[in-house]
Amino acid sequence: MTKEIIGNWKMNGLLSCEATFCEIMSGYAEYDSLSASADSDCEGARLTICPPSTLLYRFSSLARERDSRVLLGGQSCHHAAEGSFTGDISASMLHDCGAHRTLLGHAERRASGENDGMISRQLLAALHSGLTPILCVGEDMDERSSGRTRIRLEEQLAGALLLVREMGISMPSLLIAYEPLWAIGSGELPSVDEISQALECIMASVYDFSEVSVLYGGSVTSKNAAAILDCSDGLLIGKASLDSDELLSIVGLCYDSV
Ligand code: 13P
Repeated sequence: MTKEIIGNWKMNGLLSCEATFCEIMSGYAEYDSLSASADSDCEGARLTICPPSTLLYRFSSLARERDSRVLLGGQSCHHAAEGSFTGDISASMLHDCGAHRTLLGHAERRASGENDGMISRQLLAALHSGLTPILCVGEDMDERSSGRTRIRLEEQLAGALLLVREMGISMPSLLIAYEPLWAIGSGELPSVDEISQALECIMASVYDFSEVSVLYGGSVTSKNAAAILDCSDGLLIGKASLDSDELLSIVGLCYDSV
């Protein structure tokens, strides 16, 4: 199965980072052509970069000029299509700038006030605008310590998927990233067994959707990525995705059999 590799640049990157994005596009194109010419059954990686929205249009133009298969994603969206929401960005605006996908419910957005009800409406807006949602869920350290990881994941998924279920909306595909809050940017990760259990719990909670991929995110680097790729459909990568060499060496792990 093709692995999903998603780089979340968060609030990092100016127009001068164009060079980094170009390196990422070139490296990814090389892996892709290698696997095509190797005549192997290696399915490689689908690479998505979620830059700050100020860079989306520029990056999508560069990707189009180079015929690149790198996908672009937003980092969140407002639930409304337009209106008096100073500082916000709508799903249709992301799509208009060239995004194919968008993160929703990232822990850093939840920390600044987004709740499951809002995320459920954002998910509808994303689907309505033709964006594939990348829904982020994960427990904090208190929830982990008190053995409530599973309950928290089930709650977040039920909340975020409430409206699509109620309205009977079918989703062509849904990506869910398990990102424990305590693992983001900390250098600490759950064990591979814990990640597998969390991903199984997520899959069991979304049995009614057909095309679901479950990813892991939180302190992923080229050193720990291989073991996590073995038990997941892909990775959501923060800091390591800002460094083109580091990101490409993680992408390369998905082509190892070539
Ligand atoms: P780090 O990879 O920097 O820990 O960030 C993870 C993350 O939040 C990706 O969305």
